[in-house]
Amino acid sequence: MAHENLGRLPGLKFMRTLWVCEITGGPQKVSPTKPGSRHLGLKEAHRDLKISPKEFDEVAAELGRSLNFATVPAREKGEVLAAFAAHKKDVTAGYKIP
Ligand code: HEM
Repeated sequence: MAHENLGRLPGLKFMRTLWVCEITGGPQKVSPTKPGSRHLGLKEAHRDLKISPKEFDEVAAELGRSLNFATVPAREKGEVLAAFAAHKKDVTAGYKIP
């Protein structure tokens, strides 16, 4: 499961921050731990985690609940959730129906 390797959490947070900085215009650049065919692609970073589409949707729902808790306005909440959902295919690419 994705959360079993807690020692990697600080690194994940850092890499994810760099990734968001780069995709939103930089100037920071990320150097992926497991490079794939596309720079900023997320397939290889998540492949071994075997995240199912259902698990992905639940994380998105939790993100939505967090944004509600922080009273983020509907428009901005929609933008964040859409940006997250845009990567569903890459993040769940390693999942195989049992
Ligand atoms: C259910 C959804 C997701 C889960 C459970 C998840 C979980 C994880 C985990 C556990 C890692 C660390 C892997 C390692 O040990 O190296 C990781 C890496 C990463 N994730 Fe996710 N992730 C999810 C969705 C996303 C999304 C939607 C994005 C971007 C919008 C994202 C961006 C990243 C980045 C940039 C890294 C670092 C890659 C690197 O080290 O080069 N993740 N994710």
